[in-house]
Amino acid sequence: MDEVRNPFAPGAGTQPPELAGRQPILDQAKLTLGRAELGRHAKSFMLIGLRGVGKTVLLNRISQMAAERGFHVVLVEGVEDKKLPDLLLQPLRQLLLALDALGAVNEKVKRGLRVLKSFAKSVKVRVGEFEIGLGIDTQKGVGDSGDLESDLPELFIAIGEAAKARKTVAVLLIDELQYLSEVELSALIMAIHKVNQRGLPLVLIGAGLPQLVGQMGKSKSYAERLFDFPTVGPLAAKDAYTAIVEPISKEGEKIAKAAAEAIVTETQGYPYFLQVWGYESWNGAAKSPIRVKDVEAAKPKVLKSLDEGFFRVRFDRLTPSEKAYLRAMAELGAGPHRSGDVADILGVRVQSVAPTRNSLIKKGMIYSPAHGDTAFTVPLFDEFLKRQIAVHDKPRPRP
Ligand SMILES: Nc1ncnc2c1ncn2[C@@H]1O[C@H](COP(=O)(O)OP(=O)(O)O)[C@@H](O)[C@H]1O
Ligand SMILES: [Mg+2]
Repeated sequence: MDEVRNPFAPGAGTQPPELAGRQPILDQAKLTLGRAELGRHAKSFMLIGLRGVGKTVLLNRISQMAAERGFHVVLVEGVEDKKLPDLLLQPLRQLLLALDALGAVNEKVKRGLRVLKSFAKSVKVRVGEFEIGLGIDTQKGVGDSGDLESDLPELFIAIGEAAKARKTVAVLLIDELQYLSEVELSALIMAIHKVNQRGLPLVLIGAGLPQLVGQMGKSKSYAERLFDFPTVGPLAAKDAYTAIVEPISKEGEKIAKAAAEAIVTETQGYPYFLQVWGYESWNGAAKSPIRVKDVEAAKPKVLKSLDEGFFRVRFDRLTPSEKAYLRAMAELGAGPHRSGDVADILGVRVQSVAPTRNSLIKKGMIYSPAHGDTAFTVPLFDEFLKRQIAVHDKPRPRP
């Protein structure tokens, strides 16, 4: 069928043609934003889920919702080995400058800019790289101690007060939060805690892989009371069905019920897979309606697309021993698996592969759903690994 009109949208963070099954999360976002606007306690939350379930898409939607209400939004993404202040400084500067431009000179807004400048100085961003604006001085003694856990809260309070002075809400959206360090997470949690205590209109909505919950709890035990952690999982069968059928019918085309059901089964309801299967089935079908045989015929293209894109993204950056660890997990199936069983497959002792396991968790490839358990952060990753690496590294005979 006509590829130009293909409605499906596989890709990282790409808006799907039908955002199926996420109303409860959008409602929660609406509630949080609405309460923040009224100056009521607005609970920040973290979207938790595997790769490809639609977390980024949701953050983008929430960003849109907030912007439509006239709120001031900052949307950033955590990156391995990048520091939180580096991520936040420029966007927060823009936010404060936008608040500044909103009306007559306001002392709270100016103070926000000064605190940001102090903060920037203390995290050692060279002034040449980071110009706040003409005539802005630092706010001595605020946000400039060099200790992130006290500076970030002071900065957030200053921003919250500036937003309040302008009768708006500052909305901070942070994706891939699992890449933050323990100190950064701790500082972020404390900052939100302080902002909440003062009833300031600043909310944080984040997203991350399942390990984020444990990381936050480890940083600050009260994190679990401070935030909600809604799970973003695979879509329920009826929502997955809608995600396939609706976009096709909106294009004035059809898909046989059994064909749509076949896609739902193949994808197990995972949003990224739904998009790829929908996309390839549409392209491969000679004419509408798309039939089961079209879906079946699309499989090689689907796998090729996933193997070269979605599954590959972070895989190529792994070390040989990390790959071998993953391959051993795949040998055991979808998981979760006991760390001891993985070590057995590798023919080594658990302790000797613990560093490999840790670095894989840090890189966001696996997580620990329960003590001693290990699971993939990418759905169907075991099958990908088996396609990529025919045989797992045979354990060398022990002396
Ligand atoms: N609710 C949904 N229904 C259908 N497709 C979706 C839905 N949410 C996301 N997608 C699709 O899934 C893919 C992955 O979304 P993304 O937000 O990048 O996931 P994540 O950030 O969790 O890795 C995208 O192609 C997107 O269009
Ligand atoms: Mg994402």
